[in-house]
Order: sequence, then structure tokens, then C-alpha cells
Amino acid sequence: MRVWYVLSGRRPGFMPASLLLLLATLAACAIDPDELHAHHWYKLGVEDINEALQRTQNTKLAKNVVLFLGDGMGISTVTAGRIFKGQKHGKSGEEGYLSFERFPNMALLKTYNVDKQVADSAAAATAFLSGAKGNFYTLGVTAAVKAGDCAASLLPENRPKSILSWAQEQGKETGLVTNTRITHATPGAAYASSAQREWECDAKMKEEADPSVMQCKDIARQLVEDEPGMSLKVIFGGGRQAMGAPLTNSTTTSCRRLDGQNLALKWQERRQSENASYAYVTNTRQLKDVDINNTEFILGLFADNHMSYERNRDVSEAGEPSLSELVATAIRRLDRAKKGYFLIVEGGRIDHAMHDGKAQLALEEMLAFDAAVATALGLVDLNETLVIVTADHSHGLAINGYPDRGNDILGTTFYEEGIADNMPHTTLLFTTGPGFNYSYDGTKVVRANVSGVDTRAASYMFPATVPTKMGESLHSGEDVAAYAAGPWSHLFHRTHEQTYVAHVIAYAAQVGPFASPHAP
Ligand SMILES: *[C@@H]1O[C@H](CO)[C@@H](O)[C@H](O)[C@H]1NC(C)=O
Ligand SMILES: *[C@@H]1O[C@H](CO)[C@@H](O)[C@H](O)[C@H]1NC(C)=O
Ligand SMILES: *[C@@H]1O[C@H](CO)[C@@H](O)[C@H](O)[C@H]1NC(C)=O
Ligand SMILES: *[C@@H]1O[C@H](CO)[C@@H](O)[C@H](O)[C@H]1NC(C)=O
Ligand SMILES: *[C@@H]1O[C@H](CO)[C@@H](O)[C@H](O)[C@H]1NC(C)=O
Ligand SMILES: *[C@@H]1O[C@H](CO)[C@@H](O)[C@H](O)[C@H]1NC(C)=O
Ligand SMILES: [Zn+2]
Repeated sequence: MRVWYVLSGRRPGFMPASLLLLLATLAACAIDPDELHAHHWYKLGVEDINEALQRTQNTKLAKNVVLFLGDGMGISTVTAGRIFKGQKHGKSGEEGYLSFERFPNMALLKTYNVDKQVADSAAAATAFLSGAKGNFYTLGVTAAVKAGDCAASLLPENRPKSILSWAQEQGKETGLVTNTRITHATPGAAYASSAQREWECDAKMKEEADPSVMQCKDIARQLVEDEPGMSLKVIFGGGRQAMGAPLTNSTTTSCRRLDGQNLALKWQERRQSENASYAYVTNTRQLKDVDINNTEFILGLFADNHMSYERNRDVSEAGEPSLSELVATAIRRLDRAKKGYFLIVEGGRIDHAMHDGKAQLALEEMLAFDAAVATALGLVDLNETLVIVTADHSHGLAINGYPDRGNDILGTTFYEEGIADNMPHTTLLFTTGPGFNYSYDGTKVVRANVSGVDTRAASYMFPATVPTKMGESLHSGEDVAAYAAGPWSHLFHRTHEQTYVAHVIAYAAQVGPFASPHAP
């Protein structure tokens, strides 16, 4: 209580040494001194209750829908990202919010695949984009299709439509934005049906032992030859190689087309045959030069493989646009759609950094994703636009120990009373991952000493319990969150199946299974 008096100025002149120490600590980690007062928390409580009481249920038709997907963005990543964001702004970090954390409605989603307790991105994407769950490593097909079963994947009843098809059938315009290859798991499930997510180009299919898989069509071709990919007004991502488009770096190997097709050119020829205005762009300068108000279709392939991590991105005009810039351009283009639009945006590289055990890269990606959501919120009208932010699955990233308030989220901590080997550890630790680093000292197994190690360095791999190869840290199976704002966002209200996302979108926008009006 003494602290309260002194800080509130009611008992001036008395300041014991312990309090000076406390104040110094508060200053060092930028804690708001108000936090020492109960009234600070009471004031927050009143504000939050007022906000909750003023919540209205918007039951208008969702003219537009923007679905943001943070790949691998588990709840611990959201928490760590929030702290990281605050710390970048000189704050302690824990007290802040990401752009979507103040959305009025949220729910938890069960992410399991039909045949696995823990999901992969392709089958998870099938769930939230088509409303039906599938099997591990399959994409845009029901669970009647086992991974790799081309014949089963060709049966029409095993190919559920995605929300992009539902939207197009009701005359809405559609867009797809990712910073992964445009043929990768999440974007792929929006427009393709494939028994195997790796069939991004024909080369990966030729590698299969069973030659009959060639009866199936690779994912890249489905984007330019079939609906709903063919009618997408905006396609932004990486993946020139799987598309057979000219490369900037011929040594890149993701999936090299064997059929010699240039699908980016094929896409342009289709637009020409329709007499439609279009633009094909491959860098930031070209994207900025698009006359967005007078261009019907835009295809942007900004990298041979995945686009760069935000931390490594070439921010010059010859380089790659940020996820925010892509989202802003996509919304500006789609906004003139008379019957509204559906836009899917993936922050896909959070997951990749996690697979590499690179928590620092993952959190940078998390913030790039957060910025992209903020950009969208500045451009859409939430009265008529349903905005959902969710993840496909989690990662085994944990926030550990008892680090002091404001401790660098990428740094180390040491709880002397509890830690048995008398060494600090990084606050962030992976369950599985390439950062596994134990050795035998002749009598016992010991972990790497992280004292003095630069855990913020780009090359640093955060420690993991179970060893994996580089790029192979495994996903985690706990629920992910869905944050929602706009028409019908209150339909997210408890723990749901991940498939529920597609059904809420369909209901709110009256498309697909809810195409006939449900409101009187
Ligand atoms: C081309 O790709 C290789 C392999 O990924 C990489 O080592 C090299 O730096 C790249 N070169 C350029 C100019 O991007
Ligand atoms: C495109 O324009 C040409 C020339 O004006 C015309 O002959 C052709 O029918 C048009 N095609 C379509 C699909 O509108
Ligand atoms: C494009 O259209 C929007 C909406 O009508 C308008 O605000 C904007 O000024 C236009 N941009 C240009 C470059 O004409
Ligand atoms: C949204 O709807 C509310 C209530 O109908 C109205 O007060 C507000 O002006 C609307 N906002 C916009 C941007 O149209
Ligand atoms: C393991 O930790 C040691 C320091 O204890 C370090 O030199 C080494 O590079 C680390 N290895 C890996 C794979 O992280
Ligand atoms: C860990 O490393 C630090 C700094 O190099 C050193 O002072 C300390 O003794 C080491 N701890 C153990 C248990 O080896
Ligand atoms: Zn993954």
C-alpha cells in the first residue's frame, strides 16, 4: 500500500530504498506505474464491461468476407507476438493487443484431421475453406480420399467446393493472397482438389511409383485451367517455378515443371481471349504501377519459390511487396465489386520459421501478418464486411519459466529456485525441432548453456526437446483461436470444429449451402 501512496503523490517525501529499486525496475522494463494501483485495473475492468455491454449483433448480410489465416499461429505464438510487438515499441509488451485481439467475438477451433490427431496445413485448409474435413496431406478433397489416391480424388462427390466457388456462384469477386508459393497447402485448398498436397507441379507427380497418378492434374494447372482459380480477380504470392514462369534464380528448386508450360503466360492469354484488362507483375514497382481502378485481373508472382521472410525481404522497388501492401492492393481492386467480394489472406511463413526452430523469424512474420490485418481494417467497412482471423494449427512453441515482466521475449530467463541444472534457458522453447542440443558430459546428459548466446541472431535455433531435421519441427494439436468482427461474427461463440468457419462464412454471406436467403 505504501507504494500506492507514494506513486499517487499522497505521501510525498517518503521513499524507502526498496521502493527506489522497484521504480528503477519498472523504468527498466517500461511498466506503466499506474499498474501498481488497483484503480488502474478497475478502470480497465469498467472499460471492458462497457464495451461488452455495447456489443451489438450485426445480422445484416455480409457483402464482403476477408479471411486471414496465420499458418501455424497457435495461441502461444499470438501471446509471444503481442509481447514482441510491445517491446519493439519500447514497452514492456504483455499489456498490449494485436490488431485482431480486440475483435468483439472469438471461438476456439478443433483442428484434427479425419485420420490424424494433429493436422497438416492442407487438410486443415480443406476444413475451413470447404467446410468438410479431410485426411492428412490431402488438399480440397473429403476424407473418402486417402493421401495419394488419385482415382478417388477424381470422383465429384469427393471434391467439395471451396468458399471461393460459393462466392463466385453468387456473383461475388474473389481474391487470394499469400506469401508462400501460390500452389502451397493453404492457397491450394482454396482452388484445387488433390490427393497429395505435394503435387504442386507435374514433376512431383512423376516421382510417384504409381504412374496412374498422372491422370490427376497438378495444383498449378488447376489454378489457371479450372474454376474457381480461373475466375480469381486477384492472385498474389510466390511460386513462379511451379507455375513454369520465368525465374530470377535458376538454382531454386521447389517444383520444376516438366511439361514446359508457362502457366503465367497461359493465364495472360486467357485474359486476352476474354478481352479483359489484366496485369502480370513480379515486383513492388510493377505492382505499384498497376492502374488498379481500370484493371480487371491481377496476377502477382513475386518469388520463384516462397516469398521472403519479412526480416530478409528486399524492400526496394525491385524487391517484394509486404503482405500489407498486397492486402491493400487486393482490397482496392475488389472493393468495386457490386455484389461484394471474398478475400483470403495467408501469412504463411510464420509456420516455416517455426519448422526451422527460428522463433525470432516467426515473431517477425507474426507482426507482418498483424500489420496486414490492421491495413485491411483501415480499408473495409465492418458493417458489411465479415473479417475472420484464425490459424490452421498450432506449433510446439511454449513460453516458459518465470521471466520478469518486460523480459526480452527472445531472451533468456533463470528461476534459481526451480531450475535443476543451474543454467538459464530461453523463455521460448520448442517441443520438437532442429534446435535439439543435448550432450553427454561423461556422467549425465546436459543441455547447451545459453548464457552469453545471442538468441536474437537470425541463425539461432531455439532449443527443442525432440530432435528433428531442419525445416521439420512438428505441428501441435491444441485448439486454435478464431477472432471475428462484422456481420454474423457472433456465430463464433464456443469450441467448434474447424469446418465451422466455412459454414459461418456461407451463412453470413448467403452463399454455398446457405445461398437461399435465411433472413425474412
Ligand atoms: C539462388 O538460389 C540459391 C539456392 O537457394 C541461393 O543460394 C542463391 O543465393 C540464390 N541467388 C540469388 C541471386 O538469389
Ligand atoms: C474480343 O474483341 C474482339 C475484337 O473486338 C472480338 O472479335 C471478340 O469477339 C471479343 N471476344 C470476347 C470474348 O468478347
Ligand atoms: C480509384 O477509385 C477509388 C474509389 O472510387 C478512388 O477513391 C481513387 O481515387 C481512384 N484512384 C485513382 C488513381 O483514380
Ligand atoms: C454502421 O452501422 C451503424 C449502425 O447502423 C451506423 O451508426 C454507422 O454509421 C455505420 N458505419 C458505417 C461506416 O457505415
Ligand atoms: C549446441 O550448443 C553449443 C553450445 O553449447 C553450440 O556451440 C552449438 O552450436 C549448438 N548446436 C546446435 C545444433 O544448436
Ligand atoms: C554457462 O556459461 C556462462 C557464460 O559462459 C558461464 O559463466 C557459466 O559458468 C556456465 N554455466 C555452466 C553450468 O556451465
Ligand atoms: Zn507447417
